[in-house]
Amino acid sequence: MVKKNTCIFISGEGSNLKTLINNSRNHNFPIKISLVISNNANAKGILLAKKNSIPFIIIDTKRRYFENFILANLKKYKISLICLAGYMKVLSKKFLNSYGKMIINIHPSLLPKFKGLNTFERILKSDEKKTGCTVHFVNEKLDAGMIIIQKIFFIEKDDNEEILKKKTQKLEHKAFSEAIIKIFRYS
Ligand code: GRF
Repeated sequence: MVKKNTCIFISGEGSNLKTLINNSRNHNFPIKISLVISNNANAKGILLAKKNSIPFIIIDTKRRYFENFILANLKKYKISLICLAGYMKVLSKKFLNSYGKMIINIHPSLLPKFKGLNTFERILKSDEKKTGCTVHFVNEKLDAGMIIIQKIFFIEKDDNEEILKKKTQKLEHKAFSEAIIKIFRYS
């Protein structure tokens, strides 16, 4: 199998990155993680990239042409899939059009419910009985692209934000890889 060169965008912890790195070691897994991009110099995920000898780039989103800089690197590393794994910056319409290939994102709710930030706080304030995570294609609208996969669990009465996050992330770590397998199933 020819693995697709993939770039993972992160901003923080990198727990999804970690599972993707581990799974990508399996020769049947369709992607190779060729590049990690972070908009946060202190993101723990960068240490994972270093440890696993994966090229990484820290970008400064305050610089005017930062997206052009990203695009040039995506070209350099022949990236054909971008995975947004906790990347806290919205990609511009211009970026999406210029890149023109697949971009997927993981979101900690059952989209289309609870798009955007502070997801767990809003879920707990609602009367939802269940929640979960969603992997979806990225388009110009926030958290609104076509859904690839969702995983669900029931909210228990003692669940707080921290517990919801833990339970959600446990599912995310499975969902991201399953989504990747699904999109490349027939290629
Ligand atoms: C995940 O919970 C994801 O849903 C959200 O950001 C978090 C990133 O976590 N978009 P990590 O950096 O992969 O640990």
